[in-house]
Amino acid sequence: MGRAKKVVLAYSGGVDTSVCIPFLKKEWGVEEVITFAADLGQGDELQLIRQKALDSGATVSLVGDLIQPFIENFAFPAIRANALYEGKYPLSTALARPLIAQQLVKVARDQGADAVAHGCTGKGNDQVRFDIAIASLAPDLMVLTPAREWGMSREETIAYGERCGIPAPVSKKSPYSIDLNLLGRSVEAGPLEDLMTPPLEDVFSMTASIDDSPEEGEELEITFDCGNPVALDGVFLKPVEMIKEANQIAGRHGFGRLDIIENRVVGIKSREIYETPGLLLLINAHQEMESLTLSGDVLSMKRNLESKWADLVYQGLWFGPLKEAIDGFFERTQVDVNGTVRLKLHKGNCIVIGRRSDTSLYSSEMATYGRDDIFDHQAAKGFIYVWGLPTRLWSALRKKDDKNKPI
Ligand code: ARG
Repeated sequence: MGRAKKVVLAYSGGVDTSVCIPFLKKEWGVEEVITFAADLGQGDELQLIRQKALDSGATVSLVGDLIQPFIENFAFPAIRANALYEGKYPLSTALARPLIAQQLVKVARDQGADAVAHGCTGKGNDQVRFDIAIASLAPDLMVLTPAREWGMSREETIAYGERCGIPAPVSKKSPYSIDLNLLGRSVEAGPLEDLMTPPLEDVFSMTASIDDSPEEGEELEITFDCGNPVALDGVFLKPVEMIKEANQIAGRHGFGRLDIIENRVVGIKSREIYETPGLLLLINAHQEMESLTLSGDVLSMKRNLESKWADLVYQGLWFGPLKEAIDGFFERTQVDVNGTVRLKLHKGNCIVIGRRSDTSLYSSEMATYGRDDIFDHQAAKGFIYVWGLPTRLWSALRKKDDKNKPI
């Protein structure tokens, strides 16, 4: 691998990515570092971050507003997929990575860079997601990963930065490692490493605690069109607005907190606290919409593929062939997912209390126990004779073979 001269670095404004700038230049002989900071709705002061990169030695410092593509091209597919890694985590951090990788590659092309770089360490999932996404989008670009290789502790990193004119973090440093965007917050480390220590309230900022949430519950209706949430209480909302509204409503009722042990790609178990109120609310509603509008066999196949899809996204294979093939299946299923789900939020709960659809497969004449029933009860007898035949044959044989078998 040749030496990189011009590098595009994924930049967050934190100590690690700031130190990457002088490190790439001094230790690895990079001539020009161009930084790219993504706005994913995390609420950071991006102009300050832009300036910080320049102060740390970047030649060009770029900021990109990715909120809309993030929600439309990554969050909405995840809602249609009901994606929950290990049945729980709605991938709020993981979904941002392939988009950032895509953007790094684009900037590298625009700027004529010969490499991209990121500040991920060697223990996490994000390095896997960035490395694989970049390699599949631009196999010719080198990927430089200083923080994976420099072997400095946090104190050493800060000291290295100070020697290069990067000020140490001024505010009293939070003990947590936090990743955030419009979909939610992921919080780990510090006191949370003791698995029995409950998260303190300072961990949360998008959701009310159960104690502080209103005594009165709140009902709402979410309308879907081809699997996409398009209206809230009958008011049409664009995707970004939908996520923001859903965050507000679910957040004030304390819904959307998770405290879980998850399995990282590199084999480590880690504890993470998430708050992803809107995303979890919309997935709940979407699952219900599908229950009404998809046939049982399609649903059961989709539920299997959903967990595979979530694994692939978590494990960095967003741009892989299996993910794309499963997307093809999902796309066909979502044509039928239309209608409205009614939910109630109350003190950390989100429960479904109603649903309706023009593409519903529910037949009240079939389901009813009343007079209008059209189901042919006599037909059940023949069905059960055939359906149970293999079991009856097998049981009869076993009784003959093993006389002592308890009944
Ligand atoms: N565990 C989550 C994931 O792999 C979040 C990672 C970032 N978490 C953090 N606290 N910085 O997608």
